[in-house]
Amino acid sequence: MPAERTFFIIKPDAVEKKHVGAILARIEQEGFNLLALKRVHLSRKQAEGFYAVHRERGFFNELVEFMTRSPVVMGVIEKDGAVGAWRTLMGATDPAKADANTIRKLFGANVGENATHGSDSLDNAKIEIGYFFAASEVG
Ligand code: RTP
Ligand code: MG
Repeated sequence: MPAERTFFIIKPDAVEKKHVGAILARIEQEGFNLLALKRVHLSRKQAEGFYAVHRERGFFNELVEFMTRSPVVMGVIEKDGAVGAWRTLMGATDPAKADANTIRKLFGANVGENATHGSDSLDNAKIEIGYFFAASEVG
């Protein structure tokens, strides 16, 4: 599998509970290279733009409120097949349905407050990395 880059967010619930260190440690243990990292308190505009694809969904406002309520930690990670590997490591969107030992099973509270985000395709990974990082900040 070719080396890929994907984009992750440690969401407000996990930052508030001080799970940042454990999640970053897991990322390294699973063989990802960390290429960029920062802590950001998202504005409403940033969160609405980032999740624009979900604008028509019933949970959109709740999602934006959640993602802007306190800071997140976001970054870029690299590995062979990184997009799928990170989604597998996160587990299902609903922590109750996530496999044992996945990040969402370990650290997620519910389907909304589920600890982490991961890009769902290589194309979206490129878009999401570019949304938050300048090329000079990655790698
Ligand atoms: P993400 O984009 O955050 O990595 O999550 P995902 O692909 O597993 O799930 P997606 O369908 O893209 O949903 C984005 C985020 O919206 C929140 N959500 N809330 N209340 C609800 O029913 C509901 N459904 C989704 C979650 O925070 C989800 O991660
Ligand atoms: Mg998604």
